[in-house]
Amino acid sequence: MSQAAADAAFSKGLEGIIAGETSICSIEQGGLFYRGYEIHDLAQNATFDEVAFLLLEGHKPGKSELDRFKAEIRKERPLPANITRFLQESGPALKAGTAVPMDVLRSAVSILGHTDPDCQSVAADANLRKAKRLLAKIPTVIGQMQNVIDGRPLVAPETGGDPALDHAANLMYLMSGTKPSPDYARVIDVSLILYAEHDFNASTFTSRVIAGTLSDMHGASAGAIAALKGPLHGGANEMAMEMLKEIMHDVGEAGIGTPKVDDWMHRAFETKRKLMGFGHRVYKEGDPRARILREMSGTLTRETGQSHLYEMSVRIDDVMQREKGLLPNVDFYSATVYHSMGIPHDLFTPVFAMSRVAGWCAHVMEQYANNRIYRPRGRYRGPTGLRYEPIDRR
Ligand SMILES: CC(C)(COP(=O)(O)OP(=O)(O)OC[C@H]1O[C@@H](n2cnc3c(N)ncnc32)[C@H](O)[C@@H]1OP(=O)(O)O)[C@@H](O)C(=O)NCCC(=O)NCCS
Repeated sequence: MSQAAADAAFSKGLEGIIAGETSICSIEQGGLFYRGYEIHDLAQNATFDEVAFLLLEGHKPGKSELDRFKAEIRKERPLPANITRFLQESGPALKAGTAVPMDVLRSAVSILGHTDPDCQSVAADANLRKAKRLLAKIPTVIGQMQNVIDGRPLVAPETGGDPALDHAANLMYLMSGTKPSPDYARVIDVSLILYAEHDFNASTFTSRVIAGTLSDMHGASAGAIAALKGPLHGGANEMAMEMLKEIMHDVGEAGIGTPKVDDWMHRAFETKRKLMGFGHRVYKEGDPRARILREMSGTLTRETGQSHLYEMSVRIDDVMQREKGLLPNVDFYSATVYHSMGIPHDLFTPVFAMSRVAGWCAHVMEQYANNRIYRPRGRYRGPTGLRYEPIDRR
């Protein structure tokens, strides 16, 4: 491509650029589809295990395929000894706050590669096996990390939880030692369905760029976790909760649901502060996942006696729409959903990761199957024509 053509194609942040072809996910007219299935349909009628199968194996599972897949995942749930040791050794850094759970998860995924017999292979069957291991082990890492943070013994380390429990319920069990009710397990399961896949978003694109060099799947997933951590991406669900806490603190209990919240937001607008959980590069008419989560947030906050959080969220949502034309994205109402479920705030983004890994691995496999390395150009803006006079090094 000529310099002039490259210049003409320039788009800051790659906005509007088609960077590759995919048959995993599409966003059309504001709707979200995984392999052709619309997200409301999946949220209502599928389970996360089924969606993970759909993404990784490429089609909707039949009953026996699903049973086989679930058995494979359950078998892979326990962690190798080096990871358990690593989690325990990370306890002091997590307590001191020099490391946050997303950092420990990123490193754990990297270390998982060290003992994975397929780590260095990019063959299709090896990749599918690795994808299933990552899908199975990441929730165990998250749950056991919480036990380390809380100073509790690990929950069922030999089995990585309870084999009778599905993905979402097992996470809750691992994190607390208590099994959730079927209704609460379904709430987390639906949230995992909503988070599982989203086209060429920043973390998925990262994983494809890494796979595009023919590097390995554990590396691609570790890179994707690093990208997801950022507050402009997956880290927004944790930051949205922090923002709600900050507003509650500043306006006081009596101020919730009053114009004091609007005043708080006006002050934020004046300083050009970005309010977490709002805006989206692709959805300008609203994120379909946010609509599902808003309803879940309303129900759950009512059930757990925290309606004030929902009331405040809706007020913020109204002001953002009215005054900024910005709508909530997936991360705004998921914050109050996860809070109501008792998930510690700094685990919100790791929980996002345990779902999105299905999407990442599907994309990594798709990338390998039809690879061309990603190698865009930069538009040079620095000085030109300088001469490098040798430095007097005497
Ligand atoms: C999602 C996001 C990164 C998209 O970024 P983008 O497509 O590059 O959009 P921009 O950041 O250029 O935003 C366009 C305009 O809307 C404003 N804007 C976008 N999101 C905003 C937010 N959450 N709060 C306040 N203003 C916002 C920007 O300040 C900018 O205004 P300007 O034109 O006056 O400078 C961005 O909306 C954002 O930072 N949101 C908050 C973080 C978040 O929730 N991330 C999760 C995404 S799923």
